[in-house]
Amino acid sequence: MLTKPEELILTAGPANSRNEVKYVVDATMRGWNFHHSDYIVKFEKAFASYLGCKYALTMPTGTSALHLALVLFGVKAGDEVIIPDLTYVACANVIHYIGAKAVLAEVDRQTWSLDAEKLEKYITPKTRAIMPVHLYGNMADMNGIKRIAKKHHLRVLEDACEGLGCIYYGKPAGTLSDAAAFSFQGAKLLAIGEGGMFVTNKKDWYERARSLVDHGVSFKHQFWHNEIGFMYPMSNIQAALGLARLEEINWSIERKRRIFKWYYDRLHDIPGITLNPSRPGLHSSYWMSSLVLDKKFPLSRNQLRWKLREQKIDTRPFFYPISMFNLYGKRHKQHPVAYHLGLNGINLPSGVMLTEEKIDYVVRCLRQNLRV
Ligand SMILES: Cc1ncc(COP(=O)(O)O)c(C=O)c1O
Repeated sequence: MLTKPEELILTAGPANSRNEVKYVVDATMRGWNFHHSDYIVKFEKAFASYLGCKYALTMPTGTSALHLALVLFGVKAGDEVIIPDLTYVACANVIHYIGAKAVLAEVDRQTWSLDAEKLEKYITPKTRAIMPVHLYGNMADMNGIKRIAKKHHLRVLEDACEGLGCIYYGKPAGTLSDAAAFSFQGAKLLAIGEGGMFVTNKKDWYERARSLVDHGVSFKHQFWHNEIGFMYPMSNIQAALGLARLEEINWSIERKRRIFKWYYDRLHDIPGITLNPSRPGLHSSYWMSSLVLDKKFPLSRNQLRWKLREQKIDTRPFFYPISMFNLYGKRHKQHPVAYHLGLNGINLPSGVMLTEEKIDYVVRCLRQNLRV
């Protein structure tokens, strides 16, 4: 039986894949001049084929992929884009990069994302797009959201930064809307340090996107620029690592699912604790095994996290609702579900290399601290 470990049990962390050293060394030694984008092209093709979408474009971050999508949607200064109040701040920031306004909406207890039932009340004549976010491997109610978007002629951008590997009624996250963004930051399911992917099925967007990520360059004349774009590249070396890790993505998803099952078997019967919800049609990747404290325990969420930290267990708090931040208006308590989840949710250790023995230890400490 594991007692207090020497090293912190981390919330995330990748496994090494079989081909990563080979590909990265190859990209380093040979990936220049005529071969400067070989791995970028391979990674994009393999990613599009894995998802079953037409076009995938490597990006430096998930944030830049979200920003790019909004530009392609034609969102302009003064427009509004609806996002869940409970999400990572990147979602709001990219809207404000354009001079548009992020409209923060209430979330749903089951999906941890936009509540489709309440969505219409946030729509105004200025609304241009809706951005559902697939949080922690859970997925937004895409059917409900798309129904409303269609009725009001709005674009839908999936923030699938945390959604890789999730399936919704047979379709992968990222293929259920006009465009989607993925993140490959170091804690993600496919981790390459920093990186992202923009995906779409629309050819004209893809072609404009390829130019926009290179300062709006023309493909006809070298160093000729057609519009003001961005510098949003991924390096060939990062793409080499991405390709190697993508080859083993199904193994990583299997591990995440097993880790969640280990937690579920040990925790699901504790009254007042909710684990990642499951619902019909959703095949979650369980990117982060998570729990929400739904009643008063002897310790608050933050006290519990400090205690676990002393016991060498790393956890993450759920994102704070964006409306709590002064920079986005400080509109406290407008969204009771977003506030409940944001202030009582914890991501548990979920790295793919976790062992059942370590999960036993985490659960023992959790039970001891919560006195359950
Ligand atoms: C929900 C969500 N959206 C957007 C992002 C932004 O991705 P990145 O950190 O790659 O810019 C992240 C990741 O950190 C995220 O978790």
